[in-house]
Amino acid sequence: MANIITRPDWYIPESEVTPENIYRNRRKFLKEMGFVGASTLIAQSLAANESKLYPAKRNGLFSPPLHITPSKYALNYNNFYEFSTDKDEVVELAASFRTSPWNVKAGGLCDKPIEFDPVEMAREIGLEERVYRFRCVEAWGMVVPWTGFPLNKLLRKLKPKSDAKYVKFATALKPNEMPGIAKLRRYPWPYTEGLRMDEAMHDLTMVVTGIYGKPLPNQNGAPIRIVVPWKYGYKSIKSIDTIELTDKQPATLWETVNPTEYPFESNVDPKVSHPRWSQARHRDLETGLRVPTMYLNGYAKEVRSLYR
Ligand code: MTE
Repeated sequence: MANIITRPDWYIPESEVTPENIYRNRRKFLKEMGFVGASTLIAQSLAANESKLYPAKRNGLFSPPLHITPSKYALNYNNFYEFSTDKDEVVELAASFRTSPWNVKAGGLCDKPIEFDPVEMAREIGLEERVYRFRCVEAWGMVVPWTGFPLNKLLRKLKPKSDAKYVKFATALKPNEMPGIAKLRRYPWPYTEGLRMDEAMHDLTMVVTGIYGKPLPNQNGAPIRIVVPWKYGYKSIKSIDTIELTDKQPATLWETVNPTEYPFESNVDPKVSHPRWSQARHRDLETGLRVPTMYLNGYAKEVRSLYR
């Protein structure tokens, strides 16, 4: 018995072992080619898979013939307080924000809570492009081609219970990667927003994963955000990781900070002034001209009936 050598499962005879110099050269070659480690390979293949989804076909029914604001405005002038309150600084400060892997938890008052990867969900539901007007509460506006899918297609997967009356959204909270959070210590982070169930189920309400025919860049809310075109821009919450169906109106970040200036409903209405400025007109981001703001941001035909 003493002379029997039992080999472990991983045993490879010396003759089959790759010589060290060849092993090292192969590593060097792969490194030089940009193939370092399994995680890099996975990230590269995910990015390749994602880029196949863009550009998505434009849905003409939801894209009136509006002049689209050139991308340089929408991609470089951003409100994203987790990074900075300076709109020109967000792009740079958000550049190293990690948006993959990313997991969204969707649940609450429903029969089928789910967790999903935004790229996988985009592939499953299918993407389309829509050209929407976008109006910030600060009285500036633009016209943007968003890529995504109707929120109602996602919510139906959850099988909402009949007592689900609101949807609450939360932005991922990553203080180490979001330098703006420490500067606004008194804010009730994470950024949260909410919609009534009928607003959330409306065909215009979009889950957005792309902009100008490409995946969302970090400054615009990668990898997944909401866009509600008839409401002020702060309702269009970025980089979400939680969706919850509830029976009570959820507290939102802006309403908690200042309920008079940023109430829950926040429909665009030129007749209702902000306590500190008129909302009758807004500055077009491209031309700088002050143009009239439309009731419900031009979507009255579609959503007026929600508010009777
Ligand atoms: N979402 C998060 N998480 N944090 C924010 O600061 N700002 C909101 C909204 N969503 C904000 C957010 C505001 S005020 C506006 S006007 C829009 O994002 C701006 O979106 P954009 O940068 O893609 O134009």
